[in-house]
Amino acid sequence: MSSSSLTVQGLAKRYGDFVALAPTDLVVADGEFLTLLGPSGSGKTTLLSLLAGLVPPDEGSVRIGAQDVTYAPPYERDIGVVFQNYALFPHMTIEENIAFPLKMRKVAAAEAKKQARAALEMVHLPHIAGRYPRELSGGQQQRVALARCMVYKPSIILMDEPLGALDKKLREHMQLEIKRLHREMGTTVVYVTHDQEEAMTMSDRICLMNAGRIEQLGTPADLYFRPRTLFVADFLGESNLLPAALGTRVGDEAEIRLGSDGIPGRALANGQDLPAGSAVRVMVRPQNLGVARPAGDGVPGVRGRVSDVMVTGSLTKVYMEPLDRALPPLVAAFPTRNEADAIRIDDVLALSWNSRDAVVIPDAAASAGAAKAA
Ligand SMILES: Nc1ncnc2c1ncn2[C@@H]1O[C@H](COP(=O)(O)OP(=O)(O)OP(=O)(O)O)[C@@H](O)[C@H]1O
Ligand SMILES: [Mg+2]
Repeated sequence: MSSSSLTVQGLAKRYGDFVALAPTDLVVADGEFLTLLGPSGSGKTTLLSLLAGLVPPDEGSVRIGAQDVTYAPPYERDIGVVFQNYALFPHMTIEENIAFPLKMRKVAAAEAKKQARAALEMVHLPHIAGRYPRELSGGQQQRVALARCMVYKPSIILMDEPLGALDKKLREHMQLEIKRLHREMGTTVVYVTHDQEEAMTMSDRICLMNAGRIEQLGTPADLYFRPRTLFVADFLGESNLLPAALGTRVGDEAEIRLGSDGIPGRALANGQDLPAGSAVRVMVRPQNLGVARPAGDGVPGVRGRVSDVMVTGSLTKVYMEPLDRALPPLVAAFPTRNEADAIRIDDVLALSWNSRDAVVIPDAAASAGAAKAA
């Protein structure tokens, strides 16, 4: 294994009886950009702190490359850290703060000053070099913390919501800078954010956490289009989740029967190994749900009555109540078009989707019920 990979095995952290991180396995490849995403309290900062060596684990191990660092102090890990609280040195000027990691690495003073200045340019703060941290706003302190971490080009960087205090424009600029650093230096990055869009655009893979465990780990497209649980489907973006009964497998797809009318259809089996007859949900993203005027009364398919139409700039969203009352309200989204074929409230529409854009997800409530009954 190369030197800047991170390997976590059975890593766990408890506070008294409370499990902040259940035993967790995770490999972050050398040069990978991995994002930890998940609700507040799901264990993101806990995992990051364990990687950084800021708290000791109860069980398990952390390796950097082949080296076991489970109990190594933070300064022996060559890991750059930008945490939620920026923790600048209060008695040093901003320039001294940023030059500090270079000084520790015995970089000559003039060179350290030059690099610190360049790092301040990068975060758009060249004019505050001589100030002290208390003389900066929260967002400025956050950018200084970023500059201080990036200036010595560590091979692994851990960042805990490093852009949380910034406005949209600065945030986008810093996202690009972080990505550039990642690309140019081949830095391994573990990044925490609450912002789904940020996670989707920046990451090679996303690790979605829930209640101290990894709920799903995969590429942004994996999580978005092939969620394995209802939690993942719900957490990332808008989704339609239609109750269905699973039919037989056909290659990597499965036949499904939707709602109480048992409307036939097909969806990606999504690697789920469930017996025919299982209660499942079928997820279709709003942009993959097609709407059309019904071809005729006898034609089968899901029908919905339009309850609302919202033009949100470039996208039009159509909200519908399926005629089959066992199906939940649905939403379709498509590029806003000319008024000519406008959809109106109370129109009845035929809904359709490509079987490749629909995925089977186990119905957690139904399977819990089945487990109880067994
Ligand atoms: N020192 C501690 N003592 C007791 N409980 C703790 C401690 N640190 C964290 N926890 C608990 O562990 C859980 C996970 O916390 P953590 O900080 O990892 O969450 P998070 O995913 O980073 O959340 P957020 O998005 O709000 O930052 C929380 O319920 C938190 O209250
Ligand atoms: Mg946190």
